[in-house]
Parts: sequence; structure tokens; C-alpha cells
Amino acid sequence: MILTLTLNPAIDMNYQLGHLTINQVNRCGRVIKTAGGKGLNVTRVLKCVNAEVLATGFLGGKTGEFIADELDHAGVSHHFVTIKGSTRHCLAIMHEGNQTEILEDGPSISGDEAAAFLREYDRLLDQATVVTASGSLPKGLPKTFYQQLIERAARKNRKFLLDTSGESLKAGIKASPYLIKPNQDELAALMGEEAAGEAGLVASARRLAETGVRFIVVSLGKKGALGYFNGRAFIAEPPAVQAVNAVGSGDSMIAGLAYGIDRGLAPEEALAYGAAFGTLNAMEARTGYVDQAQVEAFKKKIAIRTVG
Ligand SMILES: Nc1ncnc2c1ncn2[C@@H]1O[C@H](COP(=O)(O)OP(=O)(O)OP(=O)(O)O)[C@@H](O)[C@H]1O
Ligand SMILES: [Mg+2]
Repeated sequence: MILTLTLNPAIDMNYQLGHLTINQVNRCGRVIKTAGGKGLNVTRVLKCVNAEVLATGFLGGKTGEFIADELDHAGVSHHFVTIKGSTRHCLAIMHEGNQTEILEDGPSISGDEAAAFLREYDRLLDQATVVTASGSLPKGLPKTFYQQLIERAARKNRKFLLDTSGESLKAGIKASPYLIKPNQDELAALMGEEAAGEAGLVASARRLAETGVRFIVVSLGKKGALGYFNGRAFIAEPPAVQAVNAVGSGDSMIAGLAYGIDRGLAPEEALAYGAAFGTLNAMEARTGYVDQAQVEAFKKKIAIRTVG
């Protein structure tokens, strides 16, 4: 079973406006409400390919109930810890071909709620093979929270895939997760400099491997992704496609990597699933969706080439 963590989920509210007028009343006839948060995108994609997946994290208030109902409706297994605060909303306003976003910080997690989560997590780890963690940490949790989760997973020999940025990524790396997947911006922020070309990417990945992270993946948008494992560097190159909506492609790539790793595949093969899921998601209007019927044929079209 793949355990997905969404510590700060959200109801994503998508307002489709033709035109946004500042300092005026804007009326909106088309609103799409979905259970969101990067970890839930990972979960939905895994569900699309019939992988065995269980979602956990924190949910609270009526907004939390909405998310639990949506997951039930989609047939997704979940076990969230209930908190006093209310799960947040995140707004995306589509107007004049632009996307303007307003993201709430979300509720603060108390010490007791964090402790309840750790107890639940330890119990769920017993059934898990792979753990994915996506996105930022909610308020109230210590900066070291991902570190604690990675250490607990390592004690039970579970592979931990960490997809976050900034300070939580820096702190998480200290506990040597099995895999990290920065995009190029996140890698530059982490290393303090832009990686120059393929050689620069490989050099950055090598430095990160020295910290004890086993599998480093740098996602490169439509160009695919670079993988680094056990001293080997390789690139997964998807064919050129007509992208419709690439939001959630990074999350879909995490789902593909988890899918491959859960099945015990070689890192190159797991990365090919990652690139296939990421690209298939970009070809769909929906966020966090891949067409299962296309997966195997599309994965064969991902070219894997060794570098350096
Ligand atoms: N425009 C695109 N066209 C085709 N495939 C894409 C496109 N954007 C992303 N992908 C696929 O998805 C993978 C991950 O995308 P990307 O590098 O953009 O991740 P990210 O920046 O972490 O995204 P996210 O916004 O979900 O966090 C890529 O390696 C690629 O396979
Ligand atoms: Mg990302």
C-alpha cells in the first residue's frame, strides 16, 4: 500500500470569470470545488491507475468533512486526524487567460493533534510499502516534522518520497529520505545557485546524494526529468505532446515514481512511470488525473538515456 500524506489539504475553488474587475463586484456563474492539496493530487492519480493507496493528514471543520465526503465518493481510502481548526480554501480565479490565486495559510495544528497524527502514522506505516509527502507544513508543526516522519519510516524500512520546497525540504533532507523531487527552481533555491546544463544538474544531484538521499529526481517540465541513483545519472524524455493543463504534473510524477518503486522496479523504470504520469496529466484539463488506458503504451514512448 502507498501511504500519501497531505498535512495541509484544501478545498480548491476554481472561479471561471471572463473578466476580473478590481474594486468592483464580480459575479461568477461557474465554480468548480475539489478536494485539493498536492498530496491529494498524488492520491487521485494513484487511484486512476488502481494502485492500492491510503491518504492521511489533518482535516477539520465543515471544509474537512467536504474533503472526506469527496474522497469517499471517489472510493479513496483515507484516515485523517480530525483537528479543531477548519481545513482551508484555496482560490484560483481564471480571467482573461490568467490564473490569479489566493491561498489561505490554513489552520494551526496543536501539540496534541500532532501527537495524535504521529500515533496514527506509526500504525499506518505497518501496512505501507512507500510513503509520499507533498507540499508545505501547516502552521503549528515544528520545521522538523517531515524529518520525524522520515526517521519513523526508515525505522520500519519504508521508502519515503519527499516533495516539498524551501525550509521544509532543507530540514527533510537531513533525515535522508529515499527520494526527493525538486523542480529546477526548487533545486536552485536548495543549492543556492542555478544548475548550468545537464552537467550542472548531475553535479547538483551528486552533491545531494552525498547527504544520504538515495534517489534524486529533478523534474524539468516538458523536457522530462533527470534521475540520479547509486552514482548513475539518467534522463527520462517524454515525446512532445499538446499540453492542456500542466498543474499537478509534479504531483503526478510523484505518483508515477511511487507506483514504480512500490512494484520494485529499477529506478530508470520508476522514473519512466513518473515522466509518463506527469505528461499524461498535462494532457488533461483536470488536475491530478491520468487516463489509465494510455499508461502502458505511453510509458514505452519515454526515452531513457544515460548521462555523464
Ligand atoms: N507542459 C508540459 N508538457 C508535457 N509534460 C509536462 C509539462 N509540464 C510537466 N510535464 C511532465 O510532468 C513532470 C513534472 O512536471 P514539472 O517539472 O513541471 O513539476 P513541478 O514543477 O513540480 O510541478 P507542480 O506544479 O505539479 O509542482 C515533467 O517531468 C514532465 O514529465
Ligand atoms: Mg512540484
